[in-house]
Amino acid sequence: MTTTPTTEATPTTEATPTTSATPAPAVAPAASLRPFPAGFVLGAATAAYQIEGAAHEDGRRDSIWDTFSREPGAVLGGDTGDVACDHYHRYRDDVALMARLGLDSYRFSVSMARVVPDGHTVNAKGLDFYERLVDELLGAGVSPWLTLYHWDLPQALEDRGGWTARETVDRFTDYALAVHDRLGDRVRTWTTLNEPFCSAFLGYTAGVHAPGHTDPAAGLAAAHHLMLGHGQVVRALRDRDDSLSLGLTLNLTVADPVDPTDPRDVDAARRVDAQMNRVFLDPIFRGAYPSDLLEDVRGLGLERVVRDGDLAVISTPIDVLGVNYYQGEALSHRPHPDAPVTEAVTARPVRSPFPAADGVFRHPRPLATTAMGWEVQPEGLTRLLERVHAEYAAPAGTELYVTENGAAFADEPDGDGLVHDAARTAFLHDHLGAILDAVDAGVPVRGYFYWSLLDNYEWAWGYSQRFGIVRVDYDSQERTIKDSGHAYAAIIAARGLPGGSPAADGP
Ligand code: FCB
Repeated sequence: MTTTPTTEATPTTEATPTTSATPAPAVAPAASLRPFPAGFVLGAATAAYQIEGAAHEDGRRDSIWDTFSREPGAVLGGDTGDVACDHYHRYRDDVALMARLGLDSYRFSVSMARVVPDGHTVNAKGLDFYERLVDELLGAGVSPWLTLYHWDLPQALEDRGGWTARETVDRFTDYALAVHDRLGDRVRTWTTLNEPFCSAFLGYTAGVHAPGHTDPAAGLAAAHHLMLGHGQVVRALRDRDDSLSLGLTLNLTVADPVDPTDPRDVDAARRVDAQMNRVFLDPIFRGAYPSDLLEDVRGLGLERVVRDGDLAVISTPIDVLGVNYYQGEALSHRPHPDAPVTEAVTARPVRSPFPAADGVFRHPRPLATTAMGWEVQPEGLTRLLERVHAEYAAPAGTELYVTENGAAFADEPDGDGLVHDAARTAFLHDHLGAILDAVDAGVPVRGYFYWSLLDNYEWAWGYSQRFGIVRVDYDSQERTIKDSGHAYAAIIAARGLPGGSPAADGP
């Protein structure tokens, strides 16, 4: 099923970012090109802590990730984001790279720890950086897509309970307004949260991410407060300017039973769907927690943190939903002999991210895997987009984007410093094809952001995992566009996928 693109055109440095649907004839013959819909946005994503460095410059103070990364055994190799890709100092060169690739849009996050280092006092120098970045992007014709929270809560707020504390919702709203004060006239798309599943359940329940707690009740409280912060910020920004495009990004899975004829496996898949997808989708789009989820997590205190009126705030209508997709999963009621029950990155003790994880076991499938051990499952993306569109986005009139998708591979430069990452190129091609399959099935997907523009700090995995279409040499900070980056540039320039119609790619 995996197809490798046959056309590898060299990127054109002069490629102008455009959302026009007109294919550039020089790149691939029209007959073998599968075009993107008119206006389809092709971009790439990063996040502040993963690339910026300058951890204590211009007033920035510790976020929960600075603290967590210094805890012995929390991150592979003891890696921290102190320097990362040094993007804070090299952002101009990085924007030039984006222009060279022809990106329509760049999805980045603002570091809360840079803007409100103590959790509430606005640091003008922190905002200065994002203003410089946004102006540089606009000057290069790359449209900025801003995420307010990609996991770097100021440590000062964590010291007061972090996302388990209701007070954090108001601090987040004040922070969002401060960012809007500065950038509201130049940035049109504002997403509140990146992947609240990870902030809440990897951070407060699994112990794999900052702040490293292993408490099911804390994860649920954090999830609720994150969503409340999202809804409150959407309301506040819409009050300011109702022409903004507002929303959030969720990482969603496709939960399939290992044996669809076994009701216990079907129930295991249902539980994961509830605790990963519907725990966020239902409050946001339907103003209620799913009843089966409430049953599963009964006794874990969720009812104590939900107050009257919260769900009305959380379900404030949104303009855009970002879907992050890496893989789906096969679930069973019994463990697989070769699969770990909890997926630890380091020797640090961890538990399942699911607050009610009993009787839920993931089984490996005969699929290719990336260096993260993640299964490569492009067809899952088609099914996911069809489902989210039909059940949530279409009824709400919300636009759908894929805001992250990508793969880590252990690529190394050759003798000439070039990176021939054919597996990543195939991954990119196949997932864009999966999106076009969803489009053909009637899902109006509006765009795609590859994760990531640059190799960067992959959280608990430190610098051991490379997701970039641009290689970063962490000693010299030299950037090199990988073969996958060149292939992506050619796709963007052509406004279509090489390889022809879906029938040619089919099984
Ligand atoms: C997502 C995160 C992103 C990156 C990718 C690989 O969960 O949003 O920061 O780490 O995974």
